[in-house]
Amino acid sequence: MENLVQKEIITWNKSFETGNPVVDGQHKNLFKMINDLHSGIEEGSASYFLTEIIEKLSNYITIHFNTEEDLMLNNFYPGYKDHKKAHTELKEQADKLIKLFLLKKVDLTATISQFLSDWLQNHIKDTDIKFIEWLRVNENNIITD
Ligand SMILES: [Fe+2]
Repeated sequence: MENLVQKEIITWNKSFETGNPVVDGQHKNLFKMINDLHSGIEEGSASYFLTEIIEKLSNYITIHFNTEEDLMLNNFYPGYKDHKKAHTELKEQADKLIKLFLLKKVDLTATISQFLSDWLQNHIKDTDIKFIEWLRVNENNIITD
C-alpha cells in the first residue's frame, strides 16, 4: 500500500520564494525535474530514460545559473563573485557525478537526485534569497534617488 504513495524528494513551499518571478519560475522547474529524476529511479526506469532526464536537468541548471548571473552583473551585485563561485562548484560536482553515471561505473542516480535536492534547497535559502533581497533594496534606492 505504502509503495503506491509517490513521495517527492523535494517539495516547493513559500520559504523557497525569492520574490523574483523569473528566478522562482526556474527554481520550480528545477524542483520538478529533480522529482522526475527521483521518481524515475524509484520506478526502476531504463537507464537511457534516466540519462535523458539527467542531461536535460544538467542543461537547465546551466541556463538557470546564467539567468541569475546575468541579473547580478546587470545590477552590479557586490556578491557576484561568491555567488558565481557557488554555481561553478555545484556544476563541477554534478558533472563529475553525471560522468560516472554515464560511464556506468556505479549506480549513482539516487546520489545525484539527493545531492541536487539538498544543494538546491540550501542554495536558494542561503544565497539566492540574499541576492534577490539585495536587488529589491537596490532597485528601491534607484527609484527614490
Ligand atoms: Fe543561485
